Amino acid sequence: MKIQVAQFCPRLLDKTYNIEKINNIISDSDADIIVLPELATTGYFFTSREEVEKYAETTEEGTYTKWQQIAKEKDIIIVAGFAEKAGDKLFNSAAVIFPDEEYSSVYRKTHLFYKERFCFDKGDTGFEVIDYEPKDLRLGTMICYDWRFPEAARTLALKGADLIVSPSNLVTDVWHISTPSRALENKVYFAVANRVGTEKREDEELYFNGKSAIYSYNGQLMSKAEETTEEVIFAEINPLSTRNKSFNEYNDIFKDRESELYWQD
Ligand code: ACM
Repeated sequence: MKIQVAQFCPRLLDKTYNIEKINNIISDSDADIIVLPELATTGYFFTSREEVEKYAETTEEGTYTKWQQIAKEKDIIIVAGFAEKAGDKLFNSAAVIFPDEEYSSVYRKTHLFYKERFCFDKGDTGFEVIDYEPKDLRLGTMICYDWRFPEAARTLALKGADLIVSPSNLVTDVWHISTPSRALENKVYFAVANRVGTEKREDEELYFNGKSAIYSYNGQLMSKAEETTEEVIFAEINPLSTRNKSFNEYNDIFKDRESELYWQD
């Protein structure tokens, strides 16, 4: 199974440009699954709910339904960040779209980063794994700042994920310390789709530092992008190889857990 991670520079509040760019990247893809950054259709640095409201879309509207159509035509799984409107709620979401639409859904970002709290509602989907039987892939999704919470990856892994994907707009480098560990300790593939470029609002600038990465289930780096360039990286993965969690005759990282001794909120 081929996974691609597309790193690019969305233009802030320019949906026409961004969506055309994304759709071209997906159309050119020969992968089974492609992952794009967080808020890929709009850019990141919103300043108010009113502003998000103008650019957010429901899953019944153009972008999501267009991606569904492309996924079906190309037999490709698409995971991409967008600003979602659902009733009077606004979510920083990832569309998780399968060729067979009955599997398609959204993940709504759980942990809101920095000023996102002034623009979005906290996600209400929780961490779900979609068991895509046509390709025997169990896919879990998180978004960017969720990486700071090992419980996110753990929950997805315990729910059976073979591959965790993370559309992201990362502004630090420290996540490179953590993500290979999440892959290793859960024995899952882990793919981070970061973006590049800067966004400036009033007197504040955010710098997104690329280096998107795909890790194997043993924590090894399989592919990594540059810091400033738009590029598509890829890796070949075998989802079935993540399912046996034992690493010697006596130890199994899930069966050996001692949950009653761990902190419960
Ligand atoms: C982030 O959650 N966009 C850092």
